[in-house]
Order: sequence, then C-alpha cells, then structure tokens
Amino acid sequence: MKHWPYPLWIAHRGAGKLAPENTLAAFRVGASHGYRAFECDVKLSADGVPFLLHDDKLQRTTPERGVAGKRAWSELSRVDAGAWHSRGFAGEPIASFDAIATFVIRNGFHLNIEIKPTLGQEAETGRVVAGEAARLWQCLAVPPLLSSFEPASLAAAREAAPQLPRALLLASLDGDWFDLAAALECVAVVTVHTVMDAAVIARLHGAGVRALCYTVNDADEAARLLQLGIDGIITDAVDRFSPAAARDGVLA
Ligand code: G3P
Ligand code: MG
Repeated sequence: MKHWPYPLWIAHRGAGKLAPENTLAAFRVGASHGYRAFECDVKLSADGVPFLLHDDKLQRTTPERGVAGKRAWSELSRVDAGAWHSRGFAGEPIASFDAIATFVIRNGFHLNIEIKPTLGQEAETGRVVAGEAARLWQCLAVPPLLSSFEPASLAAAREAAPQLPRALLLASLDGDWFDLAAALECVAVVTVHTVMDAAVIARLHGAGVRALCYTVNDADEAARLLQLGIDGIITDAVDRFSPAAARDGVLA
C-alpha cells in the first residue's frame, strides 16, 4: 500500500451538526475540537464559481429558495447560511471554495473535497473544482482528496488535474463498483458505513486502494471499523470522537 497522508478522522461538512454545515464557522468549530481533516460539498454558481453547499436547493440551510447553481456568486455570497442553525451563527455567509481552501492551507489542515454537482453539471463541476484545487494547492506536499458519487465528475476531474487523488463515493455496493473505481484510477473508495466489512476492505487493500466510511456517529460502529483496519472515518460527532484519543483506541 502506498503512503496515505490523510488523518484517520475527518469532520463531516466542517463540524457535523455543531455549526452550520459547509461554512467557515463550521470549519473553525471542527478545528477547535482537534480535527485536522475536513470534508465539504462543493458545487458551482451560475457564473462558474465553486462554493460550499450540500443540497441542490437553498431552502434547507438558507432563507432563500430554488436551485443554488442557477444564481451568480455575487448573489450567493450575500445569502445567510447560518441563521437556520442557531441564532449565534446568524449572518454566516455561504463559503466560497477559495475561502475554505485558504483556511485549510494556512492552518496546515487536510481537505476531502466532495464534488457535489447541481443536476446536469456533473462534468463541468468536476473540471472546475479540480482545476481550482490544483491551482490552490500547487506548492503543497499533500493535495486535497477529491471525491464524488458522480463518475462523470471524477472523470472530468481526472482530465483537468490527473495528479490530484480521487475517491469514489458509494451509497451501496450494487453494480460494478470495484471496476468503476479502478477505471477512474481512484486511490480510495468511500462507502456508507453500513456496507463496509472485512471482505470489502480486503478487496480494496488487495488492490492498493484505501477504504473510508461516512457518516459514522456511533462509538460501537467506529470501533468495529477501526478493528477492521479502516483508513478514514468521516463523522458528525466531532464533540464525542477526539482524533487524538481515538488514535490510542479510546472512543467517546
Ligand atoms: O463525502 C461523504 C459524505 O459527505 C457523503 O454524503 O450526503 O453527506 O454529502 P453527503
Ligand atoms: Mg458530503
């Protein structure tokens, strides 16, 4: 197996549920709990600016409605992405990918960039996000890990920045997932935690591919995966799982 430069524990959407997901405030909260690696969801504005948002639409996490990717960044950058969570985060803006990258790089943290395209923008989002990531991290020893559920996004990312590592995200193990990951030259596969077992890890590790899971919030489940030799755990539970303590097998 090739050297794996990423921390085992990865804070989901910045800080899980403790702060408004995918905002800079969330990253700061995750960092304050000892996290050094973060996952976030990145898509494109109508004018091609990469920014952080999980859903296609704005309504769950902002006061606005409709498809976020149909709006220009000048408009999205003024949208409140914090008030829905709690009063203390009111006014927290939607984060640009550039701002998050600056925070991560300046602090020496690691980033798992989930390419989360608006429907129909799979290839374009992969191309632009990979290109921007390559530009922002160009002088650094450890690149960000690009991941996606969308094969077209990963293929476009490979075309734009073949040097950046890629991971295939899987919500199930249906179909020819292993061959797909191999065809996309992925260095890792990230599955929903419920389908990860010893056989899957053995198959991946046998091919030199790392095995990661999302979203693990239960201590017994984390212990099961650690015992199997999992390479990365994406969690919301940043206040319960301490990356420093968990290295020594102490959970929650
Ligand atoms: O990247 C892992 C995880 O974030 C995938 O699921 O829906 O939380 O983006 P989701
Ligand atoms: Mg995600």
